[in-house]
Amino acid sequence: MDTAPLRQLLDEMTIDEKIGQLVQLSGDCFGGGDIATGPAAKIGVTQEDIDRCGSVLNVLGADEIHRIQDAYLAKSRLHIPLLFMADVIYGYQTCYPSPIGLGCTWDPEMIEGDYQVVAEEAHADGCMVTFSPAVDVVRDARWGRVVEMPGGEDPYLGSRFAEAMVKGFQQGLDEGQGVASCVKHFAGYGAAEGGREYNTVDMSERRFRQDYLPPYKAAIDADAKMVMTSFNTVDEVPATANRWLMHDVLREEWGFDGPLITDYAAILELMNHGVAADKDEASKLALDATVDIDMKTDCYAHSLKRLVEKGRISEQQIDEACWRVLSLKNELGLFEDPYRGCTTSDAARAIMCTPEKLSSARACADEAMVLLRNEGQVLPLAKEGGRLALVGPYADSKEIVGMWAIHADRSHSCTVKEAFDAVLGEGAYVYAKGCDVLGPEEYGTLGEFARFAGGGEPAEDQEALIAEAVSACADADTVVLCLGEHPLQSGEAGARTKLRLPAQQQELVRRLHDLGKRTICVLFAGRPLVLTDILPYADALLMAWWPGTAGGEAVADILFGDANPSGRLTMSFPATEGQLPLYYAQFPTGRPAGKNHTGRFVTGYLDAPNFGLYPFGYGLSYHTSALSDLTLDREVLHPGEELHASITLENEGPVAGTDVVQLYLHDCTGSVTRPIKELKGFERVTTESGERREVSFTITEEMLRFWRRDMTFGSEPGRFDVYVGLDSQRVLSASFELEA
Ligand code: GLC
Repeated sequence: MDTAPLRQLLDEMTIDEKIGQLVQLSGDCFGGGDIATGPAAKIGVTQEDIDRCGSVLNVLGADEIHRIQDAYLAKSRLHIPLLFMADVIYGYQTCYPSPIGLGCTWDPEMIEGDYQVVAEEAHADGCMVTFSPAVDVVRDARWGRVVEMPGGEDPYLGSRFAEAMVKGFQQGLDEGQGVASCVKHFAGYGAAEGGREYNTVDMSERRFRQDYLPPYKAAIDADAKMVMTSFNTVDEVPATANRWLMHDVLREEWGFDGPLITDYAAILELMNHGVAADKDEASKLALDATVDIDMKTDCYAHSLKRLVEKGRISEQQIDEACWRVLSLKNELGLFEDPYRGCTTSDAARAIMCTPEKLSSARACADEAMVLLRNEGQVLPLAKEGGRLALVGPYADSKEIVGMWAIHADRSHSCTVKEAFDAVLGEGAYVYAKGCDVLGPEEYGTLGEFARFAGGGEPAEDQEALIAEAVSACADADTVVLCLGEHPLQSGEAGARTKLRLPAQQQELVRRLHDLGKRTICVLFAGRPLVLTDILPYADALLMAWWPGTAGGEAVADILFGDANPSGRLTMSFPATEGQLPLYYAQFPTGRPAGKNHTGRFVTGYLDAPNFGLYPFGYGLSYHTSALSDLTLDREVLHPGEELHASITLENEGPVAGTDVVQLYLHDCTGSVTRPIKELKGFERVTTESGERREVSFTITEEMLRFWRRDMTFGSEPGRFDVYVGLDSQRVLSASFELEA
């Protein structure tokens, strides 16, 4: 409807009805169950609150959406439809790899198309807003939610994926297609101290703006319709109560005027943070910060009216929040079609998991996997003639779609073993489980949720499984081991301090390697693992992450050479947990370890290197490539001009393949210290064996801007180093001067 009748609708609403629009409750409040003892009572909401609330959390399914919406509208005085929001993070029934894998494609263009597929499936089943993408910058692999972050440790890469994912989700939104994107978790959640879940975030405003805010800004610039507040504090003020962050930065500086929703129960948690004595105070702080929707508590529902009556907040603040919610519902066309195009679950079924969608998920998974090690070129494997064994807890498991793949249709997934059968034929290789993902003790630490993923309770006797596998592999010359962490050992509440493979998995690798077998480890995990212990026993290491619905086929594609691996890391892999947090864009410090500073008194550790086992941007392929002839077309750059850096990429064979050519810049002298290098561009380049290709990048003054000593954003004249490489360490360099 036009703005005028929408404004008129707002004017007709009672204050109770306006407050109702600011409350989000979960689907179990609409199940018709016993309100008195059900989940609604747990959070203190009443049937009246439910009948007035504005949006619903995590209900999907066209029939269910119709049932709830119809029942709600039948009781709604002004017929304002519910808005249905859900966590559709990297797939609905067709699941793509977890975002840490998506980022390793370095292919935002492909991901934008894949997220259109995700949106098409979710929209058909009634999703109107998705709580995705999460774009938190992450530099500490101990934090479990690194699995959800496509940009990894880099703000530039994170920004490219943020805009691609938002655009993919919201393709066709004005025509009733797609889903509105709610970017999260604003802001800085990934910088939790110690990688400890929900922990304090504390850093300078400069670092916050320079390294952590850019991906959210990119999502807003891509027109993300909503933003979700994060659980953490920012400058000792919880984000959900942080007016500087939510109003001054997000709304005033960045121009965001859509609805701002809290993360789960975050308003109530303001009391735990110790910034609110009671729910009234918590509600006032959140509303003053211009937070519009209270997810899953009764704070707004039961405090806001009282706060108005006491003059502690104004009804205008409620009107403004309600207006943003009504405006989004109107933008999504809900007043004209409360179901937003979703008809029935049967109709939705017809578009799920089509061959085209499954094929795109497989192509994406092929690109997401990162080949970390390939000693003696043991990969790719021959499809015939070899004596092959397939071993490990993930060899014949469908638990490889990842933690947020809540709605994945696993009937379309095949295991690695099933994919091997398709390639080699059943019985053409030896199979043995080898061990469980976790031993009984470690499994016990996961608590009650463990039974929902990972393949169930482990056997008491892991040694028996190992011995059985060793025996079964006696005649094999090559063993593929499918290993990794439990799905619930990463993701939300999945912070860990030990990032190595479980003991029985390491024992399995050692025992098979000691038999003289070539050992190829395929790793399923949601984070960089510490692989130092198994390195001597693994001839090849393939990082598969959580590869999604088509993950089994994609592993076979890579192992048998039907796909040439092109994945490149978005997070540095630590050699030991003690190096964390770990990232390539380090500051030089006063004693940079290197040519001018050696010996004891340099930046570093006595017992570990300054950089990880595998660096940001790293990954192997089945071809080798070389860079040469880095040239700049000018030595001096002025504002408004373009400097072109070009380099020659040669595919030295033996097969065609794709490289990610990466551009980094280093500001040699600034009013504040500047990172030794920062990613400023990249290009995926596919070449034939033997082909030489010129790759060029354009450098402008805008790319050199940063948060300066006086906290203004701009560039400063001086020398800049240019690095172009195939990862953040293997680079060629040149320099230029920026002049005012
Ligand atoms: C969770 C997560 C957030 C998710 C929300 C709704 O706690 O932090 O990412 O979107 O709750 O499920």
